[in-house]
Amino acid sequence: MVRKIILDCDPGHDDAIAMILAHGNPNIELLAVTTVVGNQTLEKVTYNARAVSTMINMTEVPIAAGCERPLVKEIEVAEDIHGESGLDGPELPQPVMEVCGKHAVDVIIDTVMSEPAGTVTLCPTGGLTNIAMAIRKEPKIIERVQEVVLMGGGYHTGNWSAVSEFNIIIDPESAHIVFNAPWKVTMVGLDLTHQALATPEVREKIKAIKTVPSQFVDELLEFFGTMYKKSQGFDFPPVHDPCTVAYLIDPAVMTTKAVPVDIELYGNLTRGMTVADFRYPIPENCHTQVAVDLDHEKFWDMIYDALKNIG
Ligand code: BDR
Ligand code: CA
Repeated sequence: MVRKIILDCDPGHDDAIAMILAHGNPNIELLAVTTVVGNQTLEKVTYNARAVSTMINMTEVPIAAGCERPLVKEIEVAEDIHGESGLDGPELPQPVMEVCGKHAVDVIIDTVMSEPAGTVTLCPTGGLTNIAMAIRKEPKIIERVQEVVLMGGGYHTGNWSAVSEFNIIIDPESAHIVFNAPWKVTMVGLDLTHQALATPEVREKIKAIKTVPSQFVDELLEFFGTMYKKSQGFDFPPVHDPCTVAYLIDPAVMTTKAVPVDIELYGNLTRGMTVADFRYPIPENCHTQVAVDLDHEKFWDMIYDALKNIG
């Protein structure tokens, strides 16, 4: 079954790979790429989204720029992982794609409201500002969206504090709105994405594809790997964001567990924590689930196939 998705992102090395996977897989229909402040400023991540679209010749998918700051907090970017441009490492092509004239929040609302109810999935891989704003502007999207599959959070560790993950901590108020809306939310958090490592074998297989986009991905991973080693001590970088798209292509790529998840907004040490309640029994109205275990081989096979399809 083809899944219609909106990718709400902040490219970002792993966001770029999520775009590539979505574009290169025949089971995904990418309705729009919307951008949000996160890994870098809105201006930079939007430029990067246009450059990645150009690199993979994805000229038919609209790109819309969204919120340039979080709801309450000041802007905090991830320069020590993604560099000054947000996509440091490879040389980016001059973008040929223009952004569409509409704000990303309106693109999200209008797309969800104009497509048949229950057919559009939101796939956020950055902070949740655009999605929270869309809910507040048009609450009817909550019942029309098929589901939300997001990269963010973690139930056993953080990466920006001991217990908070970057996409959640940069805008916890938005995350609170999104996790508390009564729609189905799948949290693809660090518990899962720290298994999506770009190992030397993975790097070899990507190199062997020998296309311009595969070379581009290799260069992204080279920079990403160096930064992850330096700042977080990883031997191989965890490629977070495409895990969301992989789940939509084939849910069998990971195991999930239904548990209530809420966002901590006040704790001195715990602000931005995704608090998952694993106690028995799971409430009947539980609308959130967390990703647990990744099928590493299946996941990377999807990335190789997407790159081969793009050519
Ligand atoms: C998340 O933070 C960003 O730096 C990555 O793009 C990913 O979405 C991982 O914590
Ligand atoms: Ca991201």
